[in-house]
Amino acid sequence: MSAVEATPETTQPKGTPPRERQWFHSAVVYQVYPRSFQDSDGDGIGDLRGVVRRLDYLATLGIDVLWLSPIYASPQDDNGYDISDYQDIDPTFGTLADFDDLVAQAHARGIRIVMDLVVNHTSDEHPWFVESRSSKDSAKRDWYWWRPPREGMDAGAPGAEPTNWQSFFSGPAWELDEATGEYYLHLFSRKQPDLNWENPEVREAVYAMMRWWLDRGVDGFRMDVINMISKDLPLRDGRVLDHGPYADGSPFYICGPRIHEFLQEMHREVFAGRSEKLLTVGEMPAVTVDEAVLFTDPARREVDMVFQFEHVGLDHGEHKWDRRPLELAELKASLGRWQAGLAEVGWNSLYWNNHDQPRAVSRFGDDGQYRVESAKLLATVLHLHRGTPYVYQGEELGMTNVPFEGAQSFLDIESVNYYRAALGLGRSPEEVLEALREGSRDNARSPVQWDASPHAGFTTGEPWFPVNPNHAEINADAELADPDSVFHHYRRLIELRHSDPVVADGDFHMLLPEHPSIYAFTRSLDTQTVLVVANFSGDDQPVDGLPSEEDWGAAELVLGNYPEPGAGLPPLRPWEARVYRRGA
Ligand code: NOJ
Repeated sequence: MSAVEATPETTQPKGTPPRERQWFHSAVVYQVYPRSFQDSDGDGIGDLRGVVRRLDYLATLGIDVLWLSPIYASPQDDNGYDISDYQDIDPTFGTLADFDDLVAQAHARGIRIVMDLVVNHTSDEHPWFVESRSSKDSAKRDWYWWRPPREGMDAGAPGAEPTNWQSFFSGPAWELDEATGEYYLHLFSRKQPDLNWENPEVREAVYAMMRWWLDRGVDGFRMDVINMISKDLPLRDGRVLDHGPYADGSPFYICGPRIHEFLQEMHREVFAGRSEKLLTVGEMPAVTVDEAVLFTDPARREVDMVFQFEHVGLDHGEHKWDRRPLELAELKASLGRWQAGLAEVGWNSLYWNNHDQPRAVSRFGDDGQYRVESAKLLATVLHLHRGTPYVYQGEELGMTNVPFEGAQSFLDIESVNYYRAALGLGRSPEEVLEALREGSRDNARSPVQWDASPHAGFTTGEPWFPVNPNHAEINADAELADPDSVFHHYRRLIELRHSDPVVADGDFHMLLPEHPSIYAFTRSLDTQTVLVVANFSGDDQPVDGLPSEEDWGAAELVLGNYPEPGAGLPPLRPWEARVYRRGA
């Protein structure tokens, strides 16, 4: 029996009544983006054997679950989020035998493996799509969204797309198939055609594939843009965006009319009756708190938690490339509303980083003078919220954004396409480049910095993406050896969630909601209360106005991010964060 199976906590069947303690309340998930994690064979691209090699590091950090970004067979148009075979491993990453070994070795260390499930779309090289596009009469034609040109227009003419929607990767969301004269829908790249979930055969094929992975030993799924699988019919035009020429189609595919029905069906067909401790998390752009309550209410049997995007959109203007500074009061209002909204029913996921987001320490902290302090502060605030925290590879080291030189430094399809489209709309290259430097997903995708050697210990070959030059200073080797490092701070936070029920399950109460620099809140359970105070600024800040402040001065300091934290509740130093506890 593996260590995962042997864990003595209670296993509750999916569908447990609200407010009951579930195993993932005290769990922390670590995301691996395999391409940039660890290379084992010198080809410059990370792989599964590389992940195995670093399992002891992850066990030292103390994480419970490892979420693997896609490793399936793929043409890699969107780094694996374009899948051409759901039941095989891309040779870049290894083989099914390597995968089985990873699962076994992770389980032996008590770490669960969660797969990325990308089923809003496939690759255009997936046999399903190849068959679908082969003729209008194909048995799989209806597995995807095929539509004739707009009425009265010729195929290929400007504006002849069936709807005016913009794709997430710039340009129209429809691509003409010259051979059959029809367009197919792709909300992402033209190599990522959307599956038609209205067709029951599609759903059955997806569920069968999911069962196959669970039977193979995986412990759940992170479901890519899963709130986009139900489209509102008939497909129709949206409102043209201010920066045109295309339109926002999201009202017709975000949380569409059948989304809850599809997820409940998936639950019945895939998860029901399985006794393992499985994890399901739905990535859901633009999801609202009210919808999230429905998605995560255990009694409704849909998913355990969702990734919402509100807090990582607060520094966006009209769109993600139009950036503005984060207002702390807005961040507190947003995260506080999610905490309150899911307090009684449902569950939050907690994250600053993932493979699609710029590095949090550069974005919300100070990656210069106070890099270490602000990285620890961000971790402290996030991990003390109620919900399941996610750590993205390198976050635990305080890795920063990448110093991109020019337009040619960007490799991600979203950035490359945006650059071209924005220049086409008349924006200046300098302005667009600046937006990319701040907002590009490539910031998250530089290789993990393991040591100070030339390629940071990531590869013995030429890395597919340059290693950040700051790896000489910021790397795992150095941090493991330093008890005051960002790494050890994350380790302590994870330990705290494991050992302290108030951190896992306590009620959340926001304090000082309007304060422009202090983030303060309490968590309470039975007779215990934990106070978190954090200074999101580079200046000293007194913490005035806390209820019963004098009591906190005498409370136990559980964790701080300065080596000599001092006694009582003095003014907080730049980017200082403290966690206090009182009560029996
Ligand atoms: C969300 C994923 O996180 C992102 O990386 C990907 O490009 C899109 N979905 C499309 O699969």
